[in-house]
Amino acid sequence: MTATSPPIPTFPDGFLFGAATASYQIEGAAREDGRGASIWDTYSHTPGKVLGGDTGDVADDHYHRMPDDVALMKRLGLQSYRFSVAWPRVVPAGSGAVNPAGVDFYSRLVDELLGAGITPIATLYHWDLPQPLQDAGGWPARDTAYRFAEYAGQLAEALGDRIAIWTTLNEPWCAAYLGYSAGVHAPGHTDQAQALAAVHHLNLAHGLGLQAIRAVLPSAKGSVTHNLHVIRPADPDDPRDVDVVRRMRNLGNEAFLGPQLLGAYPADLIADTSSITDWSFVRDGDLAQIRQPIDVLGINYYTTSLARYWDGTTPRAMDDGHGDTDATAWPGEQDFEVLHVDGEHTAMGWLVEPAGLTELLTEVSARFPDVPLMVTENGAAYDDRVAADGSVPDGDRAAYVAAHLQAVADAIAAGADVRGYQLWSLMDNFEWAYGYSKRFGIIRVDYDTLERTIKDSGHYYASVIAAHLARSEQRVDQRSEQA
Ligand code: FCB
Repeated sequence: MTATSPPIPTFPDGFLFGAATASYQIEGAAREDGRGASIWDTYSHTPGKVLGGDTGDVADDHYHRMPDDVALMKRLGLQSYRFSVAWPRVVPAGSGAVNPAGVDFYSRLVDELLGAGITPIATLYHWDLPQPLQDAGGWPARDTAYRFAEYAGQLAEALGDRIAIWTTLNEPWCAAYLGYSAGVHAPGHTDQAQALAAVHHLNLAHGLGLQAIRAVLPSAKGSVTHNLHVIRPADPDDPRDVDVVRRMRNLGNEAFLGPQLLGAYPADLIADTSSITDWSFVRDGDLAQIRQPIDVLGINYYTTSLARYWDGTTPRAMDDGHGDTDATAWPGEQDFEVLHVDGEHTAMGWLVEPAGLTELLTEVSARFPDVPLMVTENGAAYDDRVAADGSVPDGDRAAYVAAHLQAVADAIAAGADVRGYQLWSLMDNFEWAYGYSKRFGIIRVDYDTLERTIKDSGHYYASVIAAHLARSEQRVDQRSEQA
């Protein structure tokens, strides 16, 4: 650590520091060893969908470099690694036979992690739906939820008790709304009714998936990860702004937390979207299937939004961070706008606001006191430069991470039960519709040579973890001295 490194907050014993990635964003080897096609293969190969025509065909070539990448994690001192499993690698047709080579890759990854003393946290769905399932209707089709449960059970059989936390879904908000309504993610549809049906079938997949995992592994720790939105009204005294925020929070957060944790969709969500759908895709018994106990709730956090009522006459501001599109990511909602807020922004154009993370963790923990939380993603894209000596002096990213770690520590001090922090991302990777243009890694990837370099933010993060472990040890020593 250099003299200019940001400070390191203190965290409770047992707090788990790691980093996160996702299969399509890093693996590459898209057509190797029996992997089937996913909706992201199709989407990224469709001209005009991804910036620069980038695809995940090669990505970081992690599929071939996995042992070296785990060695890098070990060098950083990571305690945990949150990765996702590519469904089409494990079950190429989306249903039916398991591909032994695909399973073998994840099995070797998990062994490599355990050998390095790193806790494996697996996500089963980080958006790479097998293309044959999309051809059969995708998430708007009910059957996809049952196929997911089948795959979850197959994976539980294959990986067994080596996985510390089983996360069913990553950000179903993006999968449903960006994929089926805004069209800026795969499969690129712009149908608001489809998006709401997708919401429900993703929820059902979560519930059925957890049950399938626990049928194989009764004591498996279950989880799901959401990008819960922190949305504030532009004028808290204007009832129209307050109502816009209520409706956005319903679509953004309650459409998932409601059924998954409380066993019901909010009645006002159903009423507000009644012109789009009658919700008849929710069948008797579904809500009981969806609401399964979870051991940890994953929260991905990057920024906040400021929303206000829009009267339809002035040019509409839509600074919601999800790309330029005329199609909406918010089914049924046409009378609002998301304002640009002055301040510091990342290369994604996202406002840097660590206080939003404290607020979110504190609120969610107060609301669901029995559910431990984990930050499963947080990090920042910046336009990195490589210095003459080959190092990557990304002080901006280190400062972002430091400020958000402080925000997590503040939430814990305020009573939130937060068990860990998984930084997004371990290394630069395919940032969906932005292709390789946005770098989130604490390890740089040179896309010409695929060479990896630990950035300054990576060295900072390593020092955070080392300090955390040293402090924990010190506390153990003090306790044993006192005893
Ligand atoms: C999240 C995704 C993750 C990554 C970050 C920047 O929404 O889960 O894959 O793209 O944003």
